Amino acid sequence: MLAGWSDAPHGTLAQRLAHAVRGAVHSGLLANGSRLPAERTLASMLAVSRSTVTTALSELRADGTVTSRQGSGTTVRNVYARAIAGSRIAEHFSSTPGIDLAAGNPPDASHLPAVHIDVATLLAGGGGPGVQPLGLPALRAALASRHSEHGRLTDTSQIHVTAGAHQAVALVVGALHTIGAPVAVEATSYPGIFDIIDTIGARPVPIGVDSAGLLADDLDRLLTEHRPPVLYVQSGPHNPTGRIPAPGRLRALAEVLDRHETTVVEDGALADLAFAGRVRPELADLCRRAVVVSVGSLSKVAWGGLRIGWLRAPAPLVERTMHLRLGNDLGAAAPSQLLALQLLPHLDDLAEQRRTTLSATVERALDLLRADLPEWQVSEPAGGSVLWARLPIADTAAFALFAGRHGVHVAPGSIATATRAPNPHLRICVDRPWGTVHEGIRRLRLAWSEFATKPAAILG
Ligand SMILES: Cc1ncc(COP(=O)(O)O)c(C=O)c1O
Repeated sequence: MLAGWSDAPHGTLAQRLAHAVRGAVHSGLLANGSRLPAERTLASMLAVSRSTVTTALSELRADGTVTSRQGSGTTVRNVYARAIAGSRIAEHFSSTPGIDLAAGNPPDASHLPAVHIDVATLLAGGGGPGVQPLGLPALRAALASRHSEHGRLTDTSQIHVTAGAHQAVALVVGALHTIGAPVAVEATSYPGIFDIIDTIGARPVPIGVDSAGLLADDLDRLLTEHRPPVLYVQSGPHNPTGRIPAPGRLRALAEVLDRHETTVVEDGALADLAFAGRVRPELADLCRRAVVVSVGSLSKVAWGGLRIGWLRAPAPLVERTMHLRLGNDLGAAAPSQLLALQLLPHLDDLAEQRRTTLSATVERALDLLRADLPEWQVSEPAGGSVLWARLPIADTAAFALFAGRHGVHVAPGSIATATRAPNPHLRICVDRPWGTVHEGIRRLRLAWSEFATKPAAILG
């Protein structure tokens, strides 16, 4: 909720804290009447001294943002009666200088081949007025062919081009969700899925996992008990653990799914970044009865800034997602779609390049972390760009804030969960040039040595 609160370039820590709380109140993240944690608790959550909190709160009392009453704590005064859940993804974005090892995207577009658009391309792309809620026909057709080439015969009517995989997942989950029904999901997963679940007011039902992926028996039991209309799973390297599903396990899961009515959203945003190559077959290939919606994206292999993803679903469901989308936006930007169209033929080569670069960076980063921070347990990912480190503390939220003040941004494990309960993991994205990763780890080490050994100094 107070993401990046200490990032402001000006002011004392107390002023910055007051400013961030005021912002959270004004944006409705803190609803009218909600109670702030006790000063001492707030201080340790934010890794600051108690006096910083006291000063910030008196500033907020003075301008009427909060009121305090003896015995009943500090209460928020807000024009919005209803709070909105703060986004986990928002915690990735930091406006401050410093090394960003939090956001899980490629650092820039420098690895892309030259692509360009001009008026002739715009005309040739057949976009006409350019507003096409399901995507430009040429891009939809090219994506359909790509799926067909990989063995899933796909018609253009089954493709919806979206603003990234995130919107694709949000549209399908939103289209399938029914009031009061839960959404089945792993307890630890892509932070965005929990934002999506919060936004539609659904309840997550967590499915158990082990090192091979979702547990088939657990899935069977939960689908029987809760009858969720939709299950969200990731294919390829899992964000944030880096695990890839074992082929045998996928078969067992497909058998279970074929016995239930639940529609599966199989998010392949990271699938091409499995270091040993994309895991095939996927659930979409293995399920015979269950409907599996495949989600793809150019963000991880090409560039996140394109904001191009897609979903492949039965045509009536595609139609449904289009109507849902029109309540929100009118379609993906035509220039991005035309660039995507030019990039598609290069996608397999780009993925190969990205896997080579990433696996080398991951190896070096693992070696460095294990040498410099031996008390952190970092598991070796089978792909992707993030390292999932277990720290010898119960909750990494305060440390992540503290590290931010040491010039390195990392994500606390709690953002990858539904409840945001205290979590001992940190998510460290190493999809950066080696010099950046190296310096980021150096700053993490410095921050950790202060945080772990001199808590009084941090808080004082
Ligand atoms: C598993 C997963 N799905 C979806 C997304 C969002 O991707 P996009 O940029 O295509 O919206 C991400 C980004 O981190 C991700 O890791």
